[in-house]
Amino acid sequence: MTRQTSRPRLPAQARREGREETRPPELGPGEVDVALTVDGTARTVRVEPRVSLLDALRERMGVTGPKKGCDQGACGACTVMVDGRRVLGCLTLAVTCEGREVTTVAGLADGDRLHPVQEAFIANDAFQCGYCTPGQLVSAVALLEEGHTGDDAEIAEWMSGNICRCAAYPNIRAAIRQVRDRRDGNAADTVGTVGAAGTTEASGPGGAGSDTPAAHARGFPADPGPDSVGPRTEGDR
Ligand code: FES
Ligand code: FES
Repeated sequence: MTRQTSRPRLPAQARREGREETRPPELGPGEVDVALTVDGTARTVRVEPRVSLLDALRERMGVTGPKKGCDQGACGACTVMVDGRRVLGCLTLAVTCEGREVTTVAGLADGDRLHPVQEAFIANDAFQCGYCTPGQLVSAVALLEEGHTGDDAEIAEWMSGNICRCAAYPNIRAAIRQVRDRRDGNAADTVGTVGAAGTTEASGPGGAGSDTPAAHARGFPADPGPDSVGPRTEGDR
């Protein structure tokens, strides 16, 4: 006796339009192999489809550069690039990265040679505790590629998905400006605009004192903005 296979239910819209919907193969609920490239190395990781990219990297692959700050898309500490686009590792499912190239903070340097953004962070004292720094660095590299570096307000807005609880924001912006200006051959390099304590910059959005975490949250959208986050960054603006 032939066993009748039940036809998969089509979503309402496709049903209404009388067309079949092409569905990706269903995965799970058990573990599946996900092949991806991490910092230039081809890797395969076996995870349940519910596992985030952040957990796959940190817990399954031993890639601990991306940090788990909030695990709910609010802090940016887990920022990595997938095919060159910054996403939040905690809100990105590992299975969606099949065949993709993932770049973490560990993949920014060229061997022993630091990425210019990493050098600029050091030169500008752009971190204190460093927990947010891997995400800040990845985000800054992507930001420079995206071209959202016109002025401090633009840099701040497009970095606003990366929270630094030490409020190193003026220094982070100075580091980004430095790389931007050197890349663009701008003679007015911004090195030195931040004092030793990193508190002399008064011309950012909101002026002096605008870079406390509270002011940062006040001055810029609660939504971290496109590209700083994973699933909720669909579409540019
Ligand atoms: S861990 Fe905070 S946004 Fe991902
Ligand atoms: S350097 Fe401390 S939270 Fe960013």
